[in-house]
Amino acid sequence: MADDGLAPPHPLARGCVRALSAPEPLLRDAQLGRAGIADLVSNTNPIAGGPLAHYPRAIPIELQARFAAFLATDGGEADIRAENVMFTEGSSAAIDLLVRTFCEPGRDRVCVCTPTFPLYERAASAAGVDVVPVALGGAQFERLDVDGLVAAAPKLTFVCSPNNPVGTSPVAADLEAVLRSLPGFVIVDEAYVEFAGRPSAVALTTRFPRLVVLRTFSKAWGLAGVRAGAAIGERGVLDTLRLVQPPYAFGRPAQQMSPSGSPRPR
Ligand SMILES: Cc1ncc(COP(=O)(O)O)c(C=O)c1O
Repeated sequence: MADDGLAPPHPLARGCVRALSAPEPLLRDAQLGRAGIADLVSNTNPIAGGPLAHYPRAIPIELQARFAAFLATDGGEADIRAENVMFTEGSSAAIDLLVRTFCEPGRDRVCVCTPTFPLYERAASAAGVDVVPVALGGAQFERLDVDGLVAAAPKLTFVCSPNNPVGTSPVAADLEAVLRSLPGFVIVDEAYVEFAGRPSAVALTTRFPRLVVLRTFSKAWGLAGVRAGAAIGERGVLDTLRLVQPPYAFGRPAQQMSPSGSPRPR
């Protein structure tokens, strides 16, 4: 681990990202937590502002720990810790961050398993990254084209489970085959997992370090206006995303309103 408390940048990150040092707010966070140290460098106005006058925790570690504990019990998911959770402004922000952190424009490719949520393609296109659509198979779009994905050699592959707009989840064996075969990252977007009668892919993150699972509080939890979501994965991957995420992106209201420790809505 580096002096700044973050894991070293992931070797698959873009070169320009690997060259970044930790954002200053992340370094300050730890110091400001110590008794007797006042924040005189943020240029905020604690007299006028009330409870929202101060920047939020840059890394809301207690919230991460609560959500990790929830994930570890919800559906029997294994060994998920605070360091395996990163909060974002909805899962949309995580999709964007993943592309910008790991995909080199003009060189890397993003695969989308179509038909699917259009934001994956949009985020890649906006970053100048080529998109390869790989069609889902099966009568209900439940089969991943493992060979097609391997042939496309993507840096990132987005798998939506359950999938917007078709509602089905990929066959578990296909997902495992993809995780075993692809050298890049596989992003499983579980925006609608609370509506699925299937186990989450979160438990697989402990076996597959290039798997990132996305969750959102916008859907079943009924909190779309809060803009809160989470990426779950290996610490080195998440800490690399933190190099690119704007400082304080997960605001104080979102930290306060995030129901991270609550039982799952039914
Ligand atoms: C599959 C899927 N992923 C992600 C999102 C974005 O959710 P959020 O509100 O967390 O940005 C949506 C929203 O419609 C969605 O359908």
